[in-house]
Amino acid sequence: MEVIIRDTVEEVSLLGAQVVAQLLRQKPQCVLGLATGRTPLRLYRELIRLHEKEKLDFSQVTTFNLDEYVGLPPGHPQSYHFYMRENLFRHVNLPPGSTHIPDGCAPDLRFHCFEYEEAIRAAGGIDLQLLGIGSNGHIGFNEPTGSLNSRTWIKILSEKTLHDNASHFATPEEQPRHVVTMGIGTIREAGHCIVLASGAQKSNAVKAMIEGPVSSMCPASALQLHPRTTVIADSDAAARLDQLEHYRWIEQHKLGWQKYS
Ligand code: F6R
Repeated sequence: MEVIIRDTVEEVSLLGAQVVAQLLRQKPQCVLGLATGRTPLRLYRELIRLHEKEKLDFSQVTTFNLDEYVGLPPGHPQSYHFYMRENLFRHVNLPPGSTHIPDGCAPDLRFHCFEYEEAIRAAGGIDLQLLGIGSNGHIGFNEPTGSLNSRTWIKILSEKTLHDNASHFATPEEQPRHVVTMGIGTIREAGHCIVLASGAQKSNAVKAMIEGPVSSMCPASALQLHPRTTVIADSDAAARLDQLEHYRWIEQHKLGWQKYS
């Protein structure tokens, strides 16, 4: 794994945006895998700024989101459809029809999961997958002990994840317990995965992902087997890593073309 550590969440987000923008400039017809949650919010704001100020062009881009809550319609303020529309899609020139998010209200959810996988394949696969990480090591909503080869499917959220995200919902009853999520096997087929992590509450998961054994107890650790994963963490999220000095050393000695900035 490529491990990049920055002092602040701001720097993490701007570097993440830079990686995405670089791909859009090199490959205007790229396929992006997108995440929701708190982590990518600042990155999306930077992409919007680059679109407005530097004409970053999304007109040929196709996107696939990682996940959606089962039972929340696209207009629901806590749905990931709503999140993506408000935080990115309506601010940039992505053509209608080029964005894809699992439909948590599909009449036949199981068939929908197969269709979603097929749509990713038909688009030629994901070039760059953006990921956050849960405090229990989940990516997408692939919770600990799930298969590290899973495909897009209907999953049950763990109590830890429900607790972490409870503040988004007025009452516990409103919070869905089921999601449709890309599987770990789906995520691992992306050409490049970037995991953004910030804050001390992610530090155990970041350590397990990078320095722990590959284990379904930390689903993100499956990315150790991925040929190209970049973790961008702020110093709080990176605080428990044993090899901090090594990651800094590697970064200092990168060849020009290996650097993002
Ligand atoms: C979101 C997703 C999740 C989040 C993770 C971290 O689409 O798939 O894996 O990335 O739960 O969430 P935040 O960023 O809110 O801490």
